[in-house]
Amino acid sequence: MSKPIKILSIFGTRPEAIKFFPLIHALDADPRFDSRVCVSGQHRGMLDQVLEIADIVPHHDLDLMQPDQTLDSLTANLLTGIGKVLDEEQPDWVVVQGDTATAMSGALAAYYRKIPVAHVEAGLRSGNIHHPWPEEVNRKIVGSFAALHFAPTETAANALKRETIDPATIHVTGNTVIDALHWITAQIENRPELAANLADLETRFSGKRIIGVTSHRRENFGGGMEAIADAIRQIAVRDDVAMIFPVHLNPNVRKVMNAELEGLDNVALIEPLDYPHFARLLDICTLMLTDSGGVQEEAPALGKPVLVMRETTERPEGVEAGTAKLVGTDTDMIVEECFKLLDDESAYAAMSTAHNPFGDGKSVSRIVEALAKS
Ligand code: UD1
Ligand code: UDP
Repeated sequence: MSKPIKILSIFGTRPEAIKFFPLIHALDADPRFDSRVCVSGQHRGMLDQVLEIADIVPHHDLDLMQPDQTLDSLTANLLTGIGKVLDEEQPDWVVVQGDTATAMSGALAAYYRKIPVAHVEAGLRSGNIHHPWPEEVNRKIVGSFAALHFAPTETAANALKRETIDPATIHVTGNTVIDALHWITAQIENRPELAANLADLETRFSGKRIIGVTSHRRENFGGGMEAIADAIRQIAVRDDVAMIFPVHLNPNVRKVMNAELEGLDNVALIEPLDYPHFARLLDICTLMLTDSGGVQEEAPALGKPVLVMRETTERPEGVEAGTAKLVGTDTDMIVEECFKLLDDESAYAAMSTAHNPFGDGKSVSRIVEALAKS
């Protein structure tokens, strides 16, 4: 048998880890590959939550998160840190996922060494470099030189073709987050205790409809976050709903949300949930209010409508399929659309039965076969 292909997977944040772990499981199990893992530690606690549940022990951990890190110091540390790992490992391929500072820097460090880059979740474009910020540009940078583009949908593949990327290098795979969600759901079925810690809140809020909330986007810091908090306060006036809000560890999020929302009886501000517990929240909620990318993809897979608190989205497929609605960061709009879903059965049914456009849970096998042929 020929020498295995040496793949270095590089990631650093919670969403990358979630979307990467099914691929790492597959590469580890496949003798055609020598699978190596480098984590930047761009997120510390929230990354470790995923590594633990997915049972991944990285070969390299740069541990470079700083409190309230700036984009420039983070990027500088990532480039130099990942560069050293690449010099040591000399992989045949580097694989990155998505649009974070780690993905962009990992890919760039590989490009500087002429190591080919495979990009998972390629081709998402909002068309606005300020939304999501700085992710729109991060993703475009990786796409500009990646040798393999794993586009989750036809829409993403077409965006790449419009940028004159060679179609032979583009593979439509679905989004690996659906593979991750299937895996975690099966784990919870076998071991319900993995997701049992929400029981107290479920009891406290029994008889109420649960709204799951997440918010963390940098472009929403300041006014956007305040408007979101205002909307949550107004929704909380209703006594037939309760909100469960795992608050992101970014201090810019916690400062606002803790100050604005602490002490409301039917709003539970809690620490970030590990993946099985977040899957449980998706399962028990009536709808999700979020500015997250990943949640826009997961919630429709479970038939949960998503109100997206962003001005624009690089995931228009959800909006087109009718599973998601863009509500921006306008307080009145968020409250109005939320009440509509709570009070209008047909509006709710239309969103909760729409088709999930983000994949069939078999993305990883498509990616693995494309890498094997590389
Ligand atoms: C990052 C990504 C964003 C992604 C988000 C997912 C970039 C530029 N941004 O944004 O694309 O949507 O992650 O959550 O790559 N912190 C902790 N512990 C953690 C994680 C974060 O304390 O486990 C705090 C730290 O103070 C850190 C700050 O949050 O400095 C910001 O983290 P950072 O990764 O820079 O940005 P995010 O807003 O999380
Ligand atoms: N998530 C989680 N615990 C939480 C909140 C989110 O495990 O408390 C998961 C969620 O299931 C999704 C991912 O984190 O897969 C989304 O990450 P985030 O919203 O931080 O980043 P984005 O997707 O916006 O880049």
